[in-house]
Amino acid sequence: MIVTTYWHVEQSEQSESAQAIAEAASLLRQGETVAFPTETVYGLGADATNTEAVLQIFAAKGRPSDNPLIVHIADTTQLSGLVQPDSITAHHQALMKAFWPGPLTIVLPVLAGSLSPFVTAGLQTVGIRIPDHPVALQLLREAGLPIAAPSANSSGRPSPTWASHVREDLDGQIGGIVDGGATGVGVESTVIQLVEGELYVLRPGGVTAEQLQGVLPEMRIHVAEPTEVAAADTPRAPGMKYTHYAPKGHMHIVQGDDYREVSAWIQRDIDAAKARGESTGILTFEERISGYRADLVVACGSLSQPETIARELYAALRTFDHKGISYIVAEGVSDAGIGSAIMNRLLKAAGHERIRL
Ligand code: TXA
Ligand code: MG
Repeated sequence: MIVTTYWHVEQSEQSESAQAIAEAASLLRQGETVAFPTETVYGLGADATNTEAVLQIFAAKGRPSDNPLIVHIADTTQLSGLVQPDSITAHHQALMKAFWPGPLTIVLPVLAGSLSPFVTAGLQTVGIRIPDHPVALQLLREAGLPIAAPSANSSGRPSPTWASHVREDLDGQIGGIVDGGATGVGVESTVIQLVEGELYVLRPGGVTAEQLQGVLPEMRIHVAEPTEVAAADTPRAPGMKYTHYAPKGHMHIVQGDDYREVSAWIQRDIDAAKARGESTGILTFEERISGYRADLVVACGSLSQPETIARELYAALRTFDHKGISYIVAEGVSDAGIGSAIMNRLLKAAGHERIRL
């Protein structure tokens, strides 16, 4: 155990916040790990050029060493020190212009020797993004370093959208936590790679395939199904093969076009589980919460505003653990827009157990 320093910061420019961010940046420069808010989820940062620092990320999270880390920068001028010259095409530039700062991670050929080899997990490529969050940007500027930062959860648990989630998982194992309140998007960045003039979405996230297509109308865009990702030989994000985001209880998803059929099915399933002695939970949406009976019924955002579902998803998954729920049924959503990222995370949380009615 180490003592984890904790700072609360406001997003307005208060001097105490500036002081806290300066202290956190100084810890990063000394090779320590610091968790900080981004617009997607909290990240666990370390100096991406320092192997000892990077190894602390893997140790604290219990992360498999073959899963590479995303590198966070404050502005595009840092790119030339990290990726191969000439690897940035006009397509890359258009994406950066449209979505940075923002929830898009772009995988590019790494400049040999520029980063700890543990950041790239031995790959020839590196995933890079500029986060769209004032605290993250200020911290990156003051640290003056490329910062490797996976989500700041224990490996396998739901990603943290509040500093309290980071504390729950990593207190005593990391150098510090900068608490900037709730994150915004709620699911992680979209990870993409351009290969031979076509775009592969390696992980769906905060930027939707529809938005990418809007910026590159001629581009062929491939979005792998979560189940395909594990087997595909196309380029992929190594992290996608691991079980992730999972509550401790058993969870599966029920999906269908007829809401009455779905809700009747779920209620019968839950009642049967209750009769077997399970403590039961249902993950649903604001519009539908009154239709269900279980030990814990969680309304995760509103179907009429899918971005609220993304924002609340990970906190909702954690509440089942806080209440010791052993049997969870989740309603699925449509794959359109941000729904693609929501279903990707839900399916992983459910170990891909889905009943389609
Ligand atoms: O929104 C986010 O991206 C958050 C915040 C903190 O920025 N970070 C995050 O990092 O989600 P992490 O480590 O939990 O997820 C990184 C994902 C993994 O699926 C990993 O396999 C993939 O990005 N990835 C990283 N580098 C890659 C590379 N060179 N090629 C392919 N996939 C890569
Ligand atoms: Mg993660």
